[in-house]
Amino acid sequence: MINIKTPEQLEYMRAAGKVVADTLKLLEDKICVGISTYQLDKIAHDFIVKCGARPNFLHYRGYPSSVCISIDEEVVHGIPDKHRFIEEGQIVSVDLGAVMHGYNGDAARTFCIGQVSQQKRTLVEVTEQCFFKALSVVKNGVRLGDIGWAVSQHAQSFGFGVVTELVGHGIGSTLHEDPNVPNYGIKGRGIRLATNMTICIEPMINMGTSEVVFSPNGWTAITKDHMPSAHYENTIVITDNGAEILTK
Ligand code: MF3
Ligand code: CO
Repeated sequence: MINIKTPEQLEYMRAAGKVVADTLKLLEDKICVGISTYQLDKIAHDFIVKCGARPNFLHYRGYPSSVCISIDEEVVHGIPDKHRFIEEGQIVSVDLGAVMHGYNGDAARTFCIGQVSQQKRTLVEVTEQCFFKALSVVKNGVRLGDIGWAVSQHAQSFGFGVVTELVGHGIGSTLHEDPNVPNYGIKGRGIRLATNMTICIEPMINMGTSEVVFSPNGWTAITKDHMPSAHYENTIVITDNGAEILTK
């Protein structure tokens, strides 16, 4: 069942979304060569709590941290680790969420660390563009397939692989609600989006094959060919004429 949010619920989601956006900006500031992914998780956790929110990833289905940090060939759900240090030339995706007044926000960015190869930089830029291509088509009445089509067309025009095993999602009083929001689809197919639905659009784009495998930790998705991957995500609310980004 897809929940349509009330104006009051949307206010709560704006508040949660602001905490998520501010935490991502803080991590963009703090991320540097030599910092551990564990330290980044701690900074995010403490900031979210200081804002009066709660990190919604922590303990979600047993997830052990407040943030997912996925480096290079890691696609999503990288688990912060005291012994994993950020290095020059990496692309680092940071995915995090917060819940406030019972409503959730969820967003991700991929950061380039120092001198990054042109190929990786393009991957990061195109992944962000994929989100905005999708954003530009959404409004009341548009179909889910239109989102996936917009994302996959753009990524594939660069020869990149679109991850299909993991998808975006509805969001609200829980982190994941209906509907699933795939990054692939057929124009004009799928359910219709309606004003005041809240969803996360999150392209996960690989430089090589679209195929992923899962790490022995049971969480981390990794590209099958070990080529780099990027991730970009925002929580949005559908409006009559377009959409509003709640995690901005
Ligand atoms: N941002 C992720 C998603 O969109 C959530 C991570 S799942 C968690 O699905 F377990 F790590 F919280
Ligand atoms: Co998400």
